[in-house]
Amino acid sequence: MNAVDQIRVRDIRGSALCRLLAHSLDRSRLWCLQNPNYCLTPPQAERFHALKNRLDGGEPISKILGQRSFWKDDFITTADVLDPRPDSETLITAVLNHYPDQNAPYRLLDLGTGSGCLLLSLMGEYQKACGVGVDYSAAALKVAQRNGEGLRRFPLWVQGSWGESLKGPFDIIISNPPYIPTEACQTLEVAVRVFDPMMALDGGADGLQAYQALMPHIKRLLAPTGMAFLEIGDTQAEAVSSIAQKNGLKIHGIEKDLENRDRCVIVSL
Ligand SMILES: C[S@@+](CC[C@H](N)C(=O)[O-])C[C@H]1O[C@@H](n2cnc3c(N)ncnc32)[C@H](O)[C@@H]1O
Repeated sequence: MNAVDQIRVRDIRGSALCRLLAHSLDRSRLWCLQNPNYCLTPPQAERFHALKNRLDGGEPISKILGQRSFWKDDFITTADVLDPRPDSETLITAVLNHYPDQNAPYRLLDLGTGSGCLLLSLMGEYQKACGVGVDYSAAALKVAQRNGEGLRRFPLWVQGSWGESLKGPFDIIISNPPYIPTEACQTLEVAVRVFDPMMALDGGADGLQAYQALMPHIKRLLAPTGMAFLEIGDTQAEAVSSIAQKNGLKIHGIEKDLENRDRCVIVSL
């Protein structure tokens, strides 16, 4: 297919291209299925080709469409935030398993909130909770704020480094910090390396720099009966547990993701 061909809806095959087509037409995918003979106008065809070129260049479809599903909601995603990942839903499940009373007015803290997907998902589950979401990136916080407004959940958004400007206590702390070793960042697939912000990925030479920095804040900000849920790379459980223990925290457990890889370290006072 090239730019001068006349495009009919029925010519477009494959899930990703069909999503781009629906987006170019400003129609639902169901409408496209119901109108296979519709012929795109030249501006619509141009728009479709522009989006397809981005897909061919390795940009993830979520970033092209500006939206990604996480847990029970759709989140805005842009170049300023990490795309919400299914692996991170392990943290939501772990919190719900440890804190089953969904009517409790928990104080929630999300360190490195990005799109706000973790905090906003928890606030959807705990309707009486209040939340604070911290990020170093002001641009990321703007995306988080838009997501909160869209979902009508209103945590406090704070720009800063981890917990440095905060006072506790918090009942539940969550964090998915950058944890990929610097060298490994260069070998990530294009969709991640180019289209997710490096500040969300790069965990320093050993991938553990963020855990070293944020663990003292967790120790200081956690309520006596509280727990912190930290996302980890699948080989980091031992190293992150050791950093937590050196900061006077106890290891409450390690949770695995759906592919049975270590994904979350749970710590308490
Ligand atoms: C792996 S992303 C996680 C984003 C989101 N919580 C999620 O799970 O999709 C890490 C986030 O930590 C933020 N970050 C990096 N360094 C930080 C720092 N020193 N203080 C606060 N946030 C930081 C990044 O900007 C990024 O949004």
